[in-house]
Amino acid sequence: MQEIKFYSGEDLPLELHKARIVQKLHLVPIERRLEALYEGGFNTFQLSTKDVFLDMLTDSGTNAMSDNQLAAMMQADDAYAGSQSFVRLQKAVEDVLGKKHLLPVHQGRAAENIISVAYVRKGSLVPMNYHFTTAMAHITDKGGQIVELLYDEAYVINSDHPFKGNMNIEKLEEVIVQKGAKNIPFIRMEASTNLIGGQPFSIQNLRDVRAVANKHGIRLVLDCSLIGENAYLVLQREEEFIGSDMGTVIRTMTDLADLCYFSARKLSSSRGGGICTNSMEIFRELEALVPLYEGFLTYGGMSIREIEAMAVGLYETLDETVISQSPSFIKYLVEELHKKQIPVIRPAGVLGVHLDAMQICAHIPQKQYPAGSLAAALYLISGIRGMERGSISNQRDEYGNETYADMELLRLAVPRRVFTLSQIKYVEDRLTWLYDNRHLIGGLKFNYEPPVLRFFMGKLEPTGDWPQKLMAKFKEDFGDSL
Ligand SMILES: Cc1ncc(COP(=O)(O)O)c(C=O)c1O
Repeated sequence: MQEIKFYSGEDLPLELHKARIVQKLHLVPIERRLEALYEGGFNTFQLSTKDVFLDMLTDSGTNAMSDNQLAAMMQADDAYAGSQSFVRLQKAVEDVLGKKHLLPVHQGRAAENIISVAYVRKGSLVPMNYHFTTAMAHITDKGGQIVELLYDEAYVINSDHPFKGNMNIEKLEEVIVQKGAKNIPFIRMEASTNLIGGQPFSIQNLRDVRAVANKHGIRLVLDCSLIGENAYLVLQREEEFIGSDMGTVIRTMTDLADLCYFSARKLSSSRGGGICTNSMEIFRELEALVPLYEGFLTYGGMSIREIEAMAVGLYETLDETVISQSPSFIKYLVEELHKKQIPVIRPAGVLGVHLDAMQICAHIPQKQYPAGSLAAALYLISGIRGMERGSISNQRDEYGNETYADMELLRLAVPRRVFTLSQIKYVEDRLTWLYDNRHLIGGLKFNYEPPVLRFFMGKLEPTGDWPQKLMAKFKEDFGDSL
């Protein structure tokens, strides 16, 4: 994609789209935001959008849809079986991901459930570059375990390593030898590794993983939820592919996998999900589980309108102007924060900006959840809703002990083509103020902790009156301003 330069010399990301349908936002006063935090148990998942100004919780299902996606939703063929909407989706999956057989599911974690039901047993081990919450939950739910095999560089917050999502090939070999290939139902690679800051793997690394998988006769499963973004960063960062195109890069990746699955909430700016493969054997192993858990094989629990939007959205994944918008805004914000020495994951990845709560809230012990505290504090002083991606998002071990996350991150998602640059500047401004007043942020403790995926439904409370003190300082500095 050609770079657009400003005469002023400013390095600004320029929107290559215009807004034609808009949604009004509300920035409620800080007193109301404080009440909302107590009502929602200091868990940003529990906030109501009527109290949220910039919703940076996730890019999942919140990317802006295109005019062509909305138009496609009008031609949906609602038949229970044999729907033409599904035929259009199958063709899009084959054209974009290069896989002939498609099993539709209602979202990404449903694919993870089906793959785990089919392949994971008690004693199974699934090596992966890094876990995603729902992938891990489904594997452990079926009695399996996971092992994360990133290189050490992946955990360095301020780095210039272009591919922090790479899998450690030497460790992968070791794990297979120790555990025995027969106990490893598949190797899972996640494109744009979500929980370490949306960091990509290189195609060379994926080729190396494939070679190990071939050597030991193990399936390679690719989580393609963020494959468009991974492909975009390969185009920018991997010598062999500079000057190539999105379609070629995506196909080069998916051709290396036996089985691909995705959350369409991310991949195609719609809803839904899918599992796809060129292997009839794999298809048959999974097929019967779709009507059992999801719905008939031509809708998989999705609305037909979403299927149409998904088909168009898949083709739009090949358009660099669509995919580059979010990463270019993220890069802008990351570099502005870095200039102010606010600790943030670098190099800029995809899906969001990731702040290092371990450094920002170094005074809060990990058992009081620094990333959750930072998320609550940012919401209080700005109405910006981010997501904790730290120990609250971890699950307890099999003996019920707390497991601490490798990184305590506050993720501020930048969904595709949703925010304007002045909104991103507001984020930067409020983060700068919060960083200068970070000593006022305190810890959190659970008062309701559900046993599974506790970060969704859990309720917490502050370890003192720090929210009131933070609000008082905000009012002192900002007066009547919202
Ligand atoms: C990498 C990755 N895999 C799987 C999922 C699960 O997808 P879903 O939310 O559609 O269930 C997500 C969701 O954010 C994800 O980021």
